[in-house]
Amino acid sequence: MTLPGKNPFPLPSESIVAPSLLSVDFARAGEQITEVLAAGAQILHVDIMDGHFVPNLSMGPPVVDKLRKFTSAPLDVHLMVTDPGFFIEPFAKAGADSLNFHIEACGNGDLGQIDEAKQLIQKIRDLDLGVGITLKPKTPATSIDEVIDLVDFVLVMTVEPGFGGQSFMGDMIPKMQELRGKMRSDQRLEVDGGINAETAKICRNAGADIFVAGNSIFAAPDPAAVTKEILAAVN
Ligand code: DX5
Ligand code: ZN
Repeated sequence: MTLPGKNPFPLPSESIVAPSLLSVDFARAGEQITEVLAAGAQILHVDIMDGHFVPNLSMGPPVVDKLRKFTSAPLDVHLMVTDPGFFIEPFAKAGADSLNFHIEACGNGDLGQIDEAKQLIQKIRDLDLGVGITLKPKTPATSIDEVIDLVDFVLVMTVEPGFGGQSFMGDMIPKMQELRGKMRSDQRLEVDGGINAETAKICRNAGADIFVAGNSIFAAPDPAAVTKEILAAVN
């Protein structure tokens, strides 16, 4: 089945490692990005936090704009914000390739949760970007039953969103399996939080095929080596 919008991800025959720039050394971001891409990372994961949906602040559209000018690698923007609709256009204009937003952020305005999620998915598609929907650890898989068919990928948080460097939550495995069971083969299942070679392999066996990793890659003395290790563990 052909997806209606632009899907920046290669076909699901290959697992993807997406380094999270939340943990990059910002004083030498260009150098580290070049290293992890050369090591085989296929996507850059960009965490957007508004200090409200999660208790932390991170980056805004100007950072994505600079990244866009630096690299042609796909930029997947993870919106951890209370009002995702407000930020779709600014990040699209800045050069994001895909946007993912949290189901928990939907339904606070005039529309119900599912109606707002559908509206956001359409808005992202209208801008010709890939689209993903994201679930916090406590949110059940069934919460996205009515929209799962409409997205390119589902992101299962394997830590409480807001901070890098937390421990992987092994109890998210059944949720991954449940979601994978509901997804088409052309849709991807992404995991984010506490991912290293060991936890990535566990998630791979549960059906995940995009692996976001921040701390394990960028806090290591050799980010390229860890990128290769995770890739080898999941391919
Ligand atoms: C957490 C972010 C993650 C974070 C993952 O809220 O969504 O992308 O960077 O970091 P690690 O891999 O360190 O858990
Ligand atoms: Zn993230």
